[in-house]
Amino acid sequence: MTTTYSAPGKIYLFGEHAVVYGEPAIACAVELRTRVSARKSDAITISSDLGSTGLDFEVHPYVSSAIEKLSSPEVSVEISSDIPVGSGLGSSAAVTVATLAAINTEFGLGYGREELARMGHEIEQKVQGAASPTDTFVSTFGGVVEIPSRRQLDILDCGIVIGNTNKGATPKKTAKLVKQVAVLREEYPEIIDPIIKTIGSFAKKGELLVRKKDYASLGRLMSVNHGLLDALGVGTPELSALVYAARDAGAFGAKITGAGGGGCMVALTDSPRKVASAIERAGGKAIVTEFTAEGVLQE
Ligand code: MEV
Repeated sequence: MTTTYSAPGKIYLFGEHAVVYGEPAIACAVELRTRVSARKSDAITISSDLGSTGLDFEVHPYVSSAIEKLSSPEVSVEISSDIPVGSGLGSSAAVTVATLAAINTEFGLGYGREELARMGHEIEQKVQGAASPTDTFVSTFGGVVEIPSRRQLDILDCGIVIGNTNKGATPKKTAKLVKQVAVLREEYPEIIDPIIKTIGSFAKKGELLVRKKDYASLGRLMSVNHGLLDALGVGTPELSALVYAARDAGAFGAKITGAGGGGCMVALTDSPRKVASAIERAGGKAIVTEFTAEGVLQE
């Protein structure tokens, strides 16, 4: 028997960086998935685009850690993914959660989703040194989620286009950018604290707009949120070029998603093809996707 699970990636509608200071944020699962198949075997093997290995914490750190976390059963694991790696879209959370879930079912271990999310977060912390629980939570449960309360908001049915600058957004880079914002805040608390508070207020207002499915207003506020992320110093010329290209092509709004400094932007739009072409013309790699209520699921 082979057991296959998939788990989604995520974007931030509002609130990255401010969430580090306890402000609310809205994170959303998107229909880009990592699929993991697990099969009982007579040795541990892991195959992905990165190659075929045994338990290998250099090449496959997340999958190896997930196997180890579940007491290293002899399992053959195969991975395929729609989520670009190291782009701030939660690819490591998705592969971790899907691996845990596939092995859990294949070996009848009986863990529930809460436990899988918790183990997933512990693995990200171990591999990366530090990690917020947001990615593993959203990948496990799916949906549009208010952070830190973890409340599920209504699912949205508007198009999303992600623009990848193809400049890596590694965990190391995330840590550097979080530190950079902290230093700026220490130097100018009277200026930076209100910006962080304002970013927090988008999630509060956003919740109401999500309920009304008011995409035009959500987009407008995403664009304001982008301006404030730029003000915090986490923007790049490449990210701004993609954000402006998306808006010029008629997107409701567009912003950085994740830590910034490279990685991805996200646009909300009812004409995804047009926005995707504009992002490609501006030098990005466009991915058209949608919101999903489905977290980790058996295929
Ligand atoms: C990174 O995806 C989001 C940040 O807010 C950091 C975090 O919440 O851990 C920048």
